[in-house]
Amino acid sequence: MSESTNGGTNGGTNGRRLRIGVIGLGIGRMHIEGWRQHPQVEVVAIADADPVRLAAVGDQFGIPGRHTSAEAMLAAESLDVVSVCTPNKFHKDLTLAALAAGCHVLCEKPMAMNADEGREMLAAAERASRRLMINFSYRFSAQSRALKAQVDGGVFGEFYFGRTVWHRRRGMPGFGGWFGTKALAGGGPLIDLGVHRLDLALWLMGYPKPTWVMGATYDPIARELADKAGKTFDVEDLATAFIRFENGATLALEASWAANIAEAELMETRLLGTKAGLLQKNLHEGYTFDAHLYTELNGAPFDLHLHQAATPAPSAMHDYADAILGDRPHPAPGEEGLIVMELLDAIYESARTGAPVKL
Ligand SMILES: NC(=O)c1ccc[n+]([C@@H]2O[C@H](COP(=O)([O-])OP(=O)(O)OC[C@H]3O[C@@H](n4cnc5c(N)ncnc54)[C@H](O)[C@@H]3O)[C@@H](O)[C@H]2O)c1
Repeated sequence: MSESTNGGTNGGTNGRRLRIGVIGLGIGRMHIEGWRQHPQVEVVAIADADPVRLAAVGDQFGIPGRHTSAEAMLAAESLDVVSVCTPNKFHKDLTLAALAAGCHVLCEKPMAMNADEGREMLAAAERASRRLMINFSYRFSAQSRALKAQVDGGVFGEFYFGRTVWHRRRGMPGFGGWFGTKALAGGGPLIDLGVHRLDLALWLMGYPKPTWVMGATYDPIARELADKAGKTFDVEDLATAFIRFENGATLALEASWAANIAEAELMETRLLGTKAGLLQKNLHEGYTFDAHLYTELNGAPFDLHLHQAATPAPSAMHDYADAILGDRPHPAPGEEGLIVMELLDAIYESARTGAPVKL
């Protein structure tokens, strides 16, 4: 892992408060809230091409610097860190612009439209000696952190198989908008939802090196709905993949915006280790989670259920700020974002050709 994009060499701010700018104010509003958890951080500027959204969010959070273009914000505000929260198509160019302006970058997932763009972003971060972090937000929940602590403590032994899933019965985000438009999103539920469950599994597994990928994509439900409604939709509505790693482990990945299943929303990551297995699953078809550990103790099968944390875990933005201010490596570095992009590219390529792809 490169030190220059993950910190440790040029990331400190010598006791200053961090000046933050946020580009794109959909999920960008969560970034503002996440950054504000840290006492040495101030969100001083926002940028959004939509002036109505810009004014509403600026007023809501009392942010002084408001810009209808990211470039104007970067030129005017002397920022330390920028959150890139626009549609995927703009992640690369805005990250390059922020790095060129001397900023560290927290880029939303997926890192980019494809791995080539991701490589360009990483190379630019290295050249600028700035950090690049990807907002793999599902790592930062209390449950995910508790599971990772058990992984690091050796409770599971070696992981050899996993299945990581995010399905929706019907849930195309902004149906007819940029999420379902390949030229703006790069893909469908795989690049939108699958990316989270893939990162979570890989992170818990210790990011083993992938070697082979077999993937398939389908679009029967959303395509029919889009055709009937006269909406744009040229990405998949369901993707599956089977990934093999250098260490022999395998991982099944599934993601959909439309599938004929019972649950409105189903998120589940299951990893089987030589000593124990884990399950992280969403509760009540929503966005809260449960974590379980399954093992055998003295010949008896035991199930351990994680108590819900009394207080929420710190945000990804809080941890990024802490790493920058403490001159320590940050979590979810661009290098891991790039591995995810390489896997997504391989899955789409395998889906296109019908053959496995060697990485
Ligand atoms: N980590 C997560 O859990 C999570 C959740 C939702 C979305 N996301 C990601 O965040 C990104 C944005 O998604 P969203 O749901 O907020 O989309 P959105 O469409 O709701 O919001 C995007 C905003 O960006 C603005 N915008 C577009 N291009 C711009 C530009 N060049 N300069 C300035 N502003 C621009 C738009 O006006 C809009 O307000 C996507 O990459 C998505 O995958 C991540």
